[in-house]
Amino acid sequence: MWGSPPRIFFVEGGQDSGLSHGAPMALCWKARNGRNCMKAARINRFGGPEVITIDEIPDPVPAPDQVLIDVHASAVNPADWKGREGFYKDAAWYVLPHIPGRDFSGVIRAVGAAVEGFDVGEEVFGVTDQGQEGAYATTLVMNPTIIANKPRNLSHAESAAICLGTLTAMVSLEGTAKLKKGETVLIHGGAGGVGAMAVQLARRIGAHVIATARASNADYVRSLGAERVIDYQSEDIATIGPVCDVVFDMVGGQDQRKLCSVLKPGGRLAWISRGPKDFKAPDHVTVLRPDVKRGRQHLDRIAALAEAGEIKPPAITTLPLEKAAEAQEMLKHRKVPGKIVLTML
Ligand SMILES: NC(=O)c1ccc[n+]([C@@H]2O[C@H](COP(=O)([O-])OP(=O)(O)OC[C@H]3O[C@@H](n4cnc5c(N)ncnc54)[C@H](OP(=O)(O)O)[C@@H]3O)[C@@H](O)[C@H]2O)c1
Repeated sequence: MWGSPPRIFFVEGGQDSGLSHGAPMALCWKARNGRNCMKAARINRFGGPEVITIDEIPDPVPAPDQVLIDVHASAVNPADWKGREGFYKDAAWYVLPHIPGRDFSGVIRAVGAAVEGFDVGEEVFGVTDQGQEGAYATTLVMNPTIIANKPRNLSHAESAAICLGTLTAMVSLEGTAKLKKGETVLIHGGAGGVGAMAVQLARRIGAHVIATARASNADYVRSLGAERVIDYQSEDIATIGPVCDVVFDMVGGQDQRKLCSVLKPGGRLAWISRGPKDFKAPDHVTVLRPDVKRGRQHLDRIAALAEAGEIKPPAITTLPLEKAAEAQEMLKHRKVPGKIVLTML
C-alpha cells in the first residue's frame, strides 16, 4: 500500500534544493531523509541548453493506481527543447523546475495496490499522458492504462525510440488521414523521429511514398521505404505537381501553403507542426489535425509490428542522461537522422 500519493514529482524545498550537476553528491536526499533518490535532467528556467541541470531528487511517489518504473531509456523530442525555450510557458502543467521527456522504456519497480495486469520486473514502454512529462529521469510514475510490454526483440533504447514517433504516425496516417493502399502520400520530414515511422507505416499500408529530407539523409529515407526523396534544401516541393492523395506535414510554417499545391482535388493534409497563423487552405484540400491520444491498444500494436519485423526502429544515437542538454541541441539542429535517446543505466 502506498503512502500519500502526489501524482507529480515533488522537490524538497522547491527549485534550488536539488543538487546541481557537478555539485557534491554527499548530501543526497536519501542520506538525509531515508527515501530513495532519482537522477533527473531538469529545466530550471526558460532559455538555452545551459538551463538544464542534472539533479538528485526524491523518487516520485506513485498513487495506488499507478506503477513506479525504473527508466532505462528516454527519447528526445522537439517538444523537449521547445518547452525549455518557453513554448509551453503558459500551460498549467509546465511547472519549473520541470523534467521533460515523453517516451520511455524501462522496468516496473513497484505496483500500486489498485493496479491490475502488471507485475514488478516487467519490461514496459510508453508515452507520458498529454500534459505530463518526466521521462528524463531514472524513475517515473505512470498510469498503467497507457503503458504496455515493450517489444521483446528490441532494446530499451530502441523501444523508447519507436514509441511516440510510431504512435503519432499511426494516429495521423491511419486514424486521421485514412491513407489507403494505392494512394500517394508525401511525408514532409521523412528522416525525423515521426517521419521515419510514417514512411514505414505508409509503405506497409501499400501507399506510394514520396518523402522530403536533406540530401545527406536521402539514402536513409529510401532504406525505410520511400520511393522518391526530395531534397528540401535544393528542390522545390511544388514541382512534383498535384500527385498526392495525402500529405503528412511534420515541418509546418510557410511550407504548408506549398504542400496544398501537391494535393489532388479532395486531398487530405494532416499536420502535426503548425502552419502560419493566417493560413487558409484552398477549397480542394481537407486539413486535418491528428489528436494523438495515449493508450495501451496502440502500444500493443506497435510492439506486435516490431516483433513481427514489420516496422524497424529509426536510426538511433544514444547519449547518457547527463548529456541531456547536448542531446537537445543535436536534435534541434538535426545533427543526426532518426532519434536521439538518453540512456540511464
Ligand atoms: N502529437 C503531436 O502533435 C506531435 C507528436 C510528435 C511530434 N510532433 C511535432 O512534429 C514535428 C516533428 O517531430 P519529430 O519528432 O519527427 O522531429 P525531428 O525528429 O526533429 O524531425 C524533424 C524533421 O523535419 C525535417 N525538416 C526540418 N526542417 C525542414 C524543412 N525546412 N523542410 C523539410 N523538412 C524539414 C527534418 O529533416 P532532416 O533531418 O532531413 O533535415 C526532420 O526529418 C515537431 O514539430 C514536433 O514537435 C507533434
